[in-house]
Amino acid sequence: SDEELDARIRAAKEKLGSKLVILGHFYQRDEVVKYADFVGDSFQLARAAKEKPEAEIIVFCGVHFMAETADMLSGPDQAVILPNLAAGCSMADMADADSVQACWDQLAEVFGTEPDADGRIPVMPVTYMNCSAALKAFVGENGGIVCTSSNAATVLEWAFERAQRVLFFPDQHLGRNTAKAMGVPLEQMPMWNPRQALGGNDEQTLLDSRVILWHGFCSVHKRFTVEQIDKARADYPGVRVIVHPECPMPVVDAADEAGSTDYIRKAIAAAQEPAVFAVGTEINMVNRLAAEFPQHTIFCLDPVVCPCSTMYRIHPGYLAWVLEAYAGTDALPGGEILNRITVPESVAVPARVALERMLAARP
Ligand code: 13P
Ligand code: SF4
Repeated sequence: SDEELDARIRAAKEKLGSKLVILGHFYQRDEVVKYADFVGDSFQLARAAKEKPEAEIIVFCGVHFMAETADMLSGPDQAVILPNLAAGCSMADMADADSVQACWDQLAEVFGTEPDADGRIPVMPVTYMNCSAALKAFVGENGGIVCTSSNAATVLEWAFERAQRVLFFPDQHLGRNTAKAMGVPLEQMPMWNPRQALGGNDEQTLLDSRVILWHGFCSVHKRFTVEQIDKARADYPGVRVIVHPECPMPVVDAADEAGSTDYIRKAIAAAQEPAVFAVGTEINMVNRLAAEFPQHTIFCLDPVVCPCSTMYRIHPGYLAWVLEAYAGTDALPGGEILNRITVPESVAVPARVALERMLAARP
C-alpha cells in the first residue's frame, strides 16, 4: 500500500541520514518529490550533485542523462543511483554518437578546421544537457560546451565569441528559440537531417549558417500549440502564458514568456497580485505550482494530461527498493548499491571539460 511504501522510504532515509541525498527534477510526480532533499531544474541538479560531498549515495529521481551528469560531477567515492534504469529521455536518444560524428566529419569537409583571422574556429559543437555522456565527451574533445534551458543564451554567446557557427543538438527547438531571441535570422539556422548528405543542405547554406540545428525534439513539449494559447487568451483575458523553450518556435512566439522550469517557477512565485497563468510544460510541475500558489489560477496549456512518460517511470516502489538495499532492513543486510550509474573515466574526463565550461560560463 502507499502507506507501507511511505513508511519504508522514510525509515530507510532516516537510517541513512547524511550518507544519502535524494535529488528530484521538477517533472517528478508528487509521490516522489516529497522525499527529495533538493528539487530543481537540470542545471540546479547538476550543481547540487557537485555540492554534496558528504553523501555516499546520490539517488537521482530524474532521467538517465541527469544521473550520468551527476556521476561525472560528484566525487569518486560517491555512487549515483537511478531508481529505475528504464527512465531515459526520448530527446536524448535522438542524437547518437555515430550520427553526430558523421555530421561532424561532413562539416569538417565543408569548413575545414582552421580558425579565421579573429581566432574563431569554423564550427563549435554545443549540446543541450539532454544527451548521453558520450556526446558530452565528444563536445568536450572538440572545443565545445554543454548548455541547459536556463543558460542556453549565455552559452551561445560564449560559443559565438570563439566560433563562426555552432552545431546545436539534440533539441532543434531550444536551439532555434534561443538563437532567434539573440537576433540570428532563421535562414542562418539550417536543420541537419542525418539521413541525408550534408544534412539535406547545399554547401552555400551551410557556409552562411550561424547555428546548424539537429532534428531532435521533446515529445512532451512538441504537443503545445498556438491554438491552445489562443484558447487560453479567449477563455481568460489578461492570462500570462509562459512556456518552456523546448516548445516549437510558433508557440514560444505566441507566448508572453519562455524559460526553463526554474524560470517558470520563479516567474509565478514573483507575481504579487493574483493572476492567471497558462503554462506550457510538464503536467506534474504545473499541478504542483497550482497547489503551491493557490492565490493564482494556474493551468497547463494542454488539456490532455501530458506527463513525461520516462520521468514517470520513477515510482516510489523503486525508490523504496534501492534505498532499502543500501540502508538494510530486518530482512536485508544493507550496503548493496542497486542501479548505479557509472560513466567510465575515458568518457567522463572529456565530458567534464564541456560541463565545467558551462558551469564557468554562467554569469
Ligand atoms: P529544465 O529542467 O532544464 O528546464 O529542462 C526540462 C527538461 O525537459 C528536462 O528534461
Ligand atoms: Fe526528455 Fe522531454 Fe522528458 Fe525532458 S520532458 S526528459 S526532454 S522527454
